[in-house]
Amino acid sequence: MRQGLLLVVLATVLVLARAATQQCTSWENVVIGGSDLQHAELVASPGQCCDLCYANADCTIYTWNATSKTCILKNKQSDSTSAYGVTSGTTNDRTIWSPCMGASSSYPFCDTKLSVDDRLKDLVSRVSTADAATQLRARESAQIDNIGLPAYYWGTNAIHGMQNTACLADGQCPTSFPAPNGLSATFNYSLVKDMGRIIGRELRAYYNTKFHNGLDTWSPTINPSRDPRWGRNVESPGESPFVCGQYGAAYTEGLQNGDDKDYTQAVVTLKHWVAYSVEDYDNVTRYEYNAIVSEYDLMDTYFPGWEYVVKNAKPLGVMCSYNSLNGVPTCGNPALTAYLREDWGFEGYITSDSDSIHCIWADHHYESNAVLATRDGLLGGCDIDSGDTYADNLEAAVNQSLVNRSAVDAALTNSYRMRFNLGLFDPNVTNAYDRISADEVGMSSSQETSLLAARKSMTLLKNDGQTLPFATGKKVAVIGKSSNSAEDILGNYVGPICPSGAFDCVQTLYQGVAAANQGGATTLSDDVADINTAIQLAMDADQVVLTISNYGQAGEGKDRTYIGLDTDQQELVAAVLKVGKPTAIVMLNGGLISLDWIKDEAQAILVAFAPGVHGGQAVAETIFGANNPGGKLPVTMYASDYVNDVDFLNMSMQAVAVLHLMNVNGERDDTGPGRSYKYYTGEPLYPFAYGLSYTTFNLSWSPAPPMTTFTSTLRSTTYTATVTNTGSVGGDEVVFAFYKPKSESLKTLPVGNPVPIKEIFGFQRVALGPGQSTQVTFELNAETLAQVTLDGHRELHSGEFEIELTRGHGEVLTGTAVVDVAQPERLATFRKWW
Ligand SMILES: *[C@@H]1O[C@H](CO)[C@@H](O)[C@H](O)[C@H]1NC(C)=O
Ligand SMILES: *[C@@H]1O[C@H](CO)[C@@H](O)[C@H](O)[C@H]1NC(C)=O
Ligand SMILES: *[C@@H]1O[C@H](CO)[C@@H](O)[C@H](O)[C@H]1NC(C)=O
Ligand SMILES: *[C@@H]1O[C@H](CO)[C@@H](O)[C@H](O)[C@H]1NC(C)=O
Ligand SMILES: *[C@@H]1O[C@H](CO)[C@@H](O)[C@H](O)[C@H]1NC(C)=O
Ligand SMILES: *[C@@H]1O[C@H](CO)[C@@H](O)[C@H](O)[C@H]1NC(C)=O
Ligand SMILES: *[C@@H]1O[C@H](CO)[C@@H](O)[C@H](O)[C@H]1NC(C)=O
Ligand SMILES: *[C@@H]1O[C@H](CO)[C@@H](O)[C@H](O)[C@H]1NC(C)=O
Repeated sequence: MRQGLLLVVLATVLVLARAATQQCTSWENVVIGGSDLQHAELVASPGQCCDLCYANADCTIYTWNATSKTCILKNKQSDSTSAYGVTSGTTNDRTIWSPCMGASSSYPFCDTKLSVDDRLKDLVSRVSTADAATQLRARESAQIDNIGLPAYYWGTNAIHGMQNTACLADGQCPTSFPAPNGLSATFNYSLVKDMGRIIGRELRAYYNTKFHNGLDTWSPTINPSRDPRWGRNVESPGESPFVCGQYGAAYTEGLQNGDDKDYTQAVVTLKHWVAYSVEDYDNVTRYEYNAIVSEYDLMDTYFPGWEYVVKNAKPLGVMCSYNSLNGVPTCGNPALTAYLREDWGFEGYITSDSDSIHCIWADHHYESNAVLATRDGLLGGCDIDSGDTYADNLEAAVNQSLVNRSAVDAALTNSYRMRFNLGLFDPNVTNAYDRISADEVGMSSSQETSLLAARKSMTLLKNDGQTLPFATGKKVAVIGKSSNSAEDILGNYVGPICPSGAFDCVQTLYQGVAAANQGGATTLSDDVADINTAIQLAMDADQVVLTISNYGQAGEGKDRTYIGLDTDQQELVAAVLKVGKPTAIVMLNGGLISLDWIKDEAQAILVAFAPGVHGGQAVAETIFGANNPGGKLPVTMYASDYVNDVDFLNMSMQAVAVLHLMNVNGERDDTGPGRSYKYYTGEPLYPFAYGLSYTTFNLSWSPAPPMTTFTSTLRSTTYTATVTNTGSVGGDEVVFAFYKPKSESLKTLPVGNPVPIKEIFGFQRVALGPGQSTQVTFELNAETLAQVTLDGHRELHSGEFEIELTRGHGEVLTGTAVVDVAQPERLATFRKWW
């Protein structure tokens, strides 16, 4: 003990005795993660910790703790997080930041006069198979010293703002936005495009400060909200595949296409490919879940959003999912990759989800070992492994001739191509993104965009007797779960928000209301168990804001079994409503909370989703009328007993029966109510697209709808309506365009072929002052009216369709469209692999 202490003291003195000699780039108040090489050397300064790092041949990163004076040496950079009192740094001459510098710049792959294909060929030929193993690893692709190739850190999560990184040293933190389900409720995806652009520029700023060596995101999530129980509904744009496609395309265009037409600004990775929709339910986890999906549902529900984004926005990345699909893990299925690359023209890279290559053998038991899983992944088209399976087994797979070097080359080429597109191999060609500075991170105009998105996401479900907006200057009681929590309004996938690493810079909902209630008094009770205090505050108040929240009940890895409000909160709501004061229920939720009886008892209901860092302000502005809510539900709100009628683990969208329910003859009951507005046959509490306003609108055809008959030559028509704000305050309205197939008229479609009840084909949000009008126009193409057959082919059949323009409630404008083709036209062919 004594001796050990003496040694430490001696070592410390020795280190103290010489000044730091080596050069590291360092950041204060940041921990850079990595593989630990050596722990707890005691040194006096970060500079000496840098020296120690240089003294260890494998070290590229250090973290020094100013309190304990410990110096931890690491390599293989991973996430960084904010933490007070520590300094982290990276070695300068050992860490290669940019390829094609110095000696390595004479390689043909650095020659900008050659084509990217030729440069890629040259680069790939210089990567040994042993090196390829760690190149194809996501977090991270290793540095290769002899060709001057830097490490590359893949997969910054950026569902609604950059995650996986700390704030920058001077306190700039990335901009955080409302969670995707709230963004989706805006039905104004110009905001999503703005968010993509801001995330892309902030990634560039981080890259330019040499803090974060990655420019791709593992975002957005475009899996539809198949069922209200799915844990990740908070990050999904909603239940409509069409809407998911629009959202994904907007995000992609904003993030990838910046000011420099020659280079990609940053790279999108759409996730999770495909039919990913289960986290952990009835002891079935996503790691081993085998989604059994019909050809019909794949082409009608699970593929269309992907097809739309890939064809229209050209995303450069896709993430394959954990689940198997019809018996084959999605990361090891060449047939799935063929849809992306051959049918839809995808030209990017494909990564696994974290450890989903490992799942191929360890959880799906599709293979008996990791070498075979590596083969399946690579031959299935998964270029990058987010995990160590490729890293540990690629060489063996090649040695055993399970994988040819050509397959390795293809994976390397797909992954490096992205880095060429970003300009990372052209260090001496100035591109527009080089100028993006740290000052841009979290700047005020970006915060304004986040606030605007939060305002636009507010969705009003009920407002009897014009309970809302409340008057300011009165006594307001703010009651309920999450009402004074900064964290609970942020959603999941939250990155660094405040320089402290905590959430102390975020205004809570209560704080927002208190700030907006000028001249009034605002009280708080956020203890759900303390009903007496809540009742007392409500009695003392003129107006009550009553929050209900399902924060923490679902998320990645966690599905819900119950979708209503928990009993404790129901008791609180009942008690507070009974007081009889003007009360507004504010819902804070990822997946919607089924309101059940609260729908009838409450006077006013506002869905705030997870409104983000400016949610406190946006909710308060809405409560007091400075913001007029105009959001619409991107999902159906079912009653909570929906879960008793529908089998969660069954992926079918139509007539899904109760799990294990058999009829008297012992046969499966296939009379369930179905999923989403497209197939649900029951009466929802609130339908998809529902949302009210503080003002009133009128919608009328102008001109009358055309009576279009689509033929082999007439392929397109337009519908135009006038929206008028007929009330006395300004407000936004969203107009939706749907078509409803008249199923009995589709005579060439086989008997028993599913047909959706209705399908959306357009939406448009408009802002109108009192008395103002505007026109909205929707184009309808014949292809949109195509139906999916039981075999999964998309075909245009003769038949009749009702066209509907609606505001999600109120008057419905209708028209008729007819398809008259000599025989069904095949528009897309499904290729079955099982
Ligand atoms: C630094 O060391 C102190 C004292 O051991 C410890 O309490 C603190 O958590 C450490 N900081 C970090 C970020 O690890
Ligand atoms: C880029 O410029 C650096 C610094 O001047 C130089 O070392 C390097 O060789 C150049 N790279 C290429 C590909 O010309
Ligand atoms: C899940 O497994 C555990 C342990 O095997 C068991 O106790 C539990 O009843 C199971 N739950 C369900 C919902 O099947
Ligand atoms: C693969 O083969 C090479 C060349 O024979 C050998 O050096 C290497 O150790 C082998 N690696 C594995 C993992 O089998
Ligand atoms: C490897 O390449 C050879 C020759 O092109 C081919 O016959 C063989 O099927 C390939 N093996 C694998 C596992 O792809
Ligand atoms: C899912 O439900 C549908 C409709 O009830 C049924 O036809 C199908 O067999 C079920 N699928 C599975 C995998 O159980
Ligand atoms: C809406 O406007 C149309 C024509 O502009 C009118 O015929 C209709 O009565 C109005 N509807 C309502 C509900 O005000
Ligand atoms: C839609 O969002 C954009 C920002 O991208 C904003 O300028 C515009 O006013 C919004 N329009 C409506 C009607 O919400």
